[in-house]
Amino acid sequence: MEQTLLIIKPDAVAQNRIGEILRRLETAGFAVTGLRMQTLDQETAADFYSIHQGKEFFGPLVEFMTSGPLVAVRLQGEDIRRRVREFVGVTDPAQARPGSIRADFGTSVRMNAVHASNPDEDVDRELAFFFADKTSPQEAL
Ligand code: RTP
Ligand code: MG
Repeated sequence: MEQTLLIIKPDAVAQNRIGEILRRLETAGFAVTGLRMQTLDQETAADFYSIHQGKEFFGPLVEFMTSGPLVAVRLQGEDIRRRVREFVGVTDPAQARPGSIRADFGTSVRMNAVHASNPDEDVDRELAFFFADKTSPQEAL
């Protein structure tokens, strides 16, 4: 079964939105198979977003992602990568679908509440930053 990574970013954690975002994901039928709260150091954040190295927003993005604790969420389901990307809305909250997580909780193109792995990028690499085990609790049942 396909798995993906969603991150509740430091802005949303600081605004006490962890529970609300998890509730929306579960209500939408996405199964949570891993959960971890963590504060990234600069080296790890830069490595995680290394695909954006050299872009003008890279430095500010690393600053933002290390500004406080985040919550990494592993989700599992059929076609989950594409469905979660669709569910959270596009990068800029002002352009995101009304009712999407980014539209409701994002405050700028940088501080956009959540990360959702892009199916066209290395999702397993992203998951490995936060979850060492490959076996999810639901597979073990
Ligand atoms: P993410 O990787 O966080 O799920 O977001 P995404 O695919 O929708 O967007 P991406 O292009 O991968 O950008 C990664 C994150 O960098 C910040 N960003 N800032 N112009 C800017 O200031 C700018 N553009 C992007 C956002 O936090 C974005 O989610
Ligand atoms: Mg991305």
